[in-house]
Amino acid sequence: MAISNIRYGEGVTQEVGMDLQNLGARKVCVMTDNNLGQLPPIKAVLDSLTKNGIHFQMYDNVRVEPTDYSFMDAITFAKKGEFDAYVAVGGGSVMDTCKAANLYASNPGSHFLDYVNAPIGKGKTVTVPVKPMIAVPTTTGTGSETTGVAIFDYKELKVKTGIASRAIKPLLGMIDPLHTLHMPERVVANSGFDVLCHALESYTALPYKMRSPCPSNPINRPAYQGSNPISDVWAIHALRIVAKYLKRAITDPEDREARASMHLASAFAGIGFGNAGVHLFHGMSYPISGLVKTYKAKDYNVDHSLVPHGLSVVVTSPAVFTFTAPMFPERHLEAAEILGADIRTARIKDAGFILADTLRKFLFDLDVDNGLTALGYSKADIPALVKGTLPQERVTKLAPRPQTEEELSTLFEASMQLY
Ligand SMILES: NC(=O)c1ccc[n+]([C@@H]2O[C@H](COP(=O)([O-])OP(=O)(O)OC[C@H]3O[C@@H](n4cnc5c(N)ncnc54)[C@H](O)[C@@H]3O)[C@@H](O)[C@H]2O)c1
Ligand SMILES: [Fe+2]
Repeated sequence: MAISNIRYGEGVTQEVGMDLQNLGARKVCVMTDNNLGQLPPIKAVLDSLTKNGIHFQMYDNVRVEPTDYSFMDAITFAKKGEFDAYVAVGGGSVMDTCKAANLYASNPGSHFLDYVNAPIGKGKTVTVPVKPMIAVPTTTGTGSETTGVAIFDYKELKVKTGIASRAIKPLLGMIDPLHTLHMPERVVANSGFDVLCHALESYTALPYKMRSPCPSNPINRPAYQGSNPISDVWAIHALRIVAKYLKRAITDPEDREARASMHLASAFAGIGFGNAGVHLFHGMSYPISGLVKTYKAKDYNVDHSLVPHGLSVVVTSPAVFTFTAPMFPERHLEAAEILGADIRTARIKDAGFILADTLRKFLFDLDVDNGLTALGYSKADIPALVKGTLPQERVTKLAPRPQTEEELSTLFEASMQLY
């Protein structure tokens, strides 16, 4: 298991300046997006830096749902700044951008695709040391503060891909639930669906003993190793928190207990999936985000079309589970029970349908758009969606059941409408 150090509690952000001082940092890069730049979480960080006499430069140009271009812009900033530490204040978009900026600024001679996941990039192993990074998550979703994963939209292919290496995980994740009180309703919902899917996918991923090939040297061990007894603990616990608190966190911005619980669940699920991996919903979500046409996400203060990550992932979950359940039906049924299904008289062979139905009810109750059609896709887009899923082998191969192109088409078709 590889995870970042974690510190949790209301107000912990005020310690960040001291942490940087303890690290001996002399020139710090603070990253955020320009919407968050106006909000209290960034003020809390900057106050602490100023109070502790930390010299810093601010980069607030992170793109929400980053692209290779926006990553490269941040990398250029980082290279010029020659920073000796990084602080990311934001959701997954900011934390991932900061990881990439740190990696490439620490290896100035490398090409962008060197470290990007194969087969899109070269998937090179990171062997050079990166600078310490502190992540201050402000959404309750990605768990990126705990993982060595940085995701971006690769414009040339119109699909998301990423960089995955334990070497780029933050040194410290500072989980300060006060920051969650500022999140708009749909950001809570969509980032919460990401937690739900991280937990569900890592729990149902191909078991680590069945994944192959076994790496010849531990340095080549992938970040995503398949479901395993340690990740399972984190995944199941995160799923229970989602079942109990997600709806409350969405509907009542004053519900501190619910928002704080989801903030922890995000890190817990991150610890689980950061080592076990995710599988088909994530693999299929990358073209759903990448091929976006005109869909505008409610509550996202941005000027471009986007399908928020959590939404792009959860929308295929009922169809995918109907498909994967025959492989490990007990786990699928257990997940359905945690999400509220009565399984006392359930037959094991119906596990997939039961989990899919439970998820549909869960999503309907939380106002999720009615499938891919509502996100602007039609049947005519299915071949492109399938084509964009094929290079996502890093995750699709972790699905409990292998998929043909035809089966992927069927899964996209079945996700056109949810209800
Ligand atoms: N690295 C990983 O392990 C990992 C895992 C899952 C997803 N991701 C990636 O993370 C990105 C999504 O991240 P996200 O869901 O955290 O959202 P985000 O970072 O994209 O932010 C979404 C919106 O919410 C706003 N926002 C964030 N925190 C706020 C707060 N406290 N108050 C008010 N507004 C706030 C942002 O300004 C932005 O407009 C995607 O690119 C996705 O692919 C990465
Ligand atoms: Fe995710």
